[in-house]
Amino acid sequence: MSRFSGFYKKTRQERIDILNQERMLQAKTVEILRKNQNLPENIAGKMAENHLGTFCLPFSVVPEFLLDGQEYSLPMVTEEPSVVAACSFGAKIIGRSGGFTSDIQNRLMIGQVALYNVAEPQVAQKNIEHETATILSLANQAHPSIVKRGGGARTLRTEIKDQFLIVYLSVDVKEAMGANILNTMLEGIKDYLEEISRGKALMAILSNYASESLVTARCRITISSLATSAALAQETAEKIALASQLAQIDTYRATTHNKGIFNGIDGLVVATGNDWRAVEAGAHAYAARDGHYRGLSTWTIDREELLGQMTLPMPIATVGGSIGLNPKVQAAFDILGQPKARTLASLIVAVGLCQNFAALRALVTTGIQAGHMKLQAKSLAILAGATESEADIIAQQLRKEQHTNLETAKQLLATLRGN
Ligand code: HMG
Repeated sequence: MSRFSGFYKKTRQERIDILNQERMLQAKTVEILRKNQNLPENIAGKMAENHLGTFCLPFSVVPEFLLDGQEYSLPMVTEEPSVVAACSFGAKIIGRSGGFTSDIQNRLMIGQVALYNVAEPQVAQKNIEHETATILSLANQAHPSIVKRGGGARTLRTEIKDQFLIVYLSVDVKEAMGANILNTMLEGIKDYLEEISRGKALMAILSNYASESLVTARCRITISSLATSAALAQETAEKIALASQLAQIDTYRATTHNKGIFNGIDGLVVATGNDWRAVEAGAHAYAARDGHYRGLSTWTIDREELLGQMTLPMPIATVGGSIGLNPKVQAAFDILGQPKARTLASLIVAVGLCQNFAALRALVTTGIQAGHMKLQAKSLAILAGATESEADIIAQQLRKEQHTNLETAKQLLATLRGN
């Protein structure tokens, strides 16, 4: 039996105790979780302008998430019911087939200086390419601390697009997300680029299309584990593969398919204090890389197995930004086991694939509402005042009622208690 069996039926305090025993959390993390400590007012006021207070969302955990042979607990921030349940369900089924594997093709961040009013773009392009070593050195001089950490500017390329001559700089930013590093370097090379191109720089800025930070997650699910009957399991796998094809050819479906993927990705990206707008923007651009917006994941059948695969740009960090400031983010990193950026990037892509699997499985079998109603019935039972043991009974009864609402839940609870 799993060490996390029935985890979601425990109280909040019990879940913290189990996590602590299993993950050996730092004492500070246990304190943050027990006292539900959030971002302090004085820090919040320094992070954003005109601040009035702080804004909370549920902070949850998905236990037993298997990636590259190692088990993780994933912290997730989401306001949407059934996301954490679905991800836990997906992680359980995929875990039984060996979990997820990942590989990282590269981890360089890209920025660009867009030049215009360049008299002779082809000549300017040659000049810039000829001066590559000097430009990379100037970029590194603009941000020496990243060079000391083993990172720094790596490559440079140019493209002429309409009236622009665009210079792309790729930088190894180590554990950072790199926005500040890139922007400082780009501004550091801008004047020299203007001089040798004899043009003007319109802007110098990081690109969120992190096409040199691609991460792939895969899983192979034994088809027989998808249902108790072999025929139903096969049918479910075939329908998941069909759903994946639909998301490749229909933009309406691709958008919802990808939204489901981001249910998981955003949950983990937000919990780890990363920039979810950057991750979303980059992934949606990647989804449209051949000119059509497509589903980001694919599911195919290979004999006895259902294969899931997804590649995404994943520009995330384990240091910098708001990461060190928010106690819940520190707790999230401790729950994760203090991963390096490469591992975190892999976990984020894998959680998206996991979430997608759970959503597709529900969609092609019971439909999405059944799971929602089940969870909603439980929440209504608790809202009506049911204890944990009463809640399961009331939830079951509620789902048979015509009106699944708070009033009915209260009536059922009164009847159960003999009032
Ligand atoms: P079920 O078969 O009724 O679940 O599915 P179950 O009660 O038999 O439990 C199975 C496992 O699910 C449990 O295992 C848990 O791991 C987990 P156990 O521990 O019992 O051995 N689980 C829970 N974990 C935490 N809290 C809970 C909980 N309940 C079960 N309360 C389930 C129920 C919700 C899992 C299923 O219906 C499902 O996966 N539905 C998909 C839900 C979903 O994707 N929601 C996201 C919102 S919809 C959306 O935005 C995206 C979408 O449009 C994307 C798209 O179109 O592609 C759908």
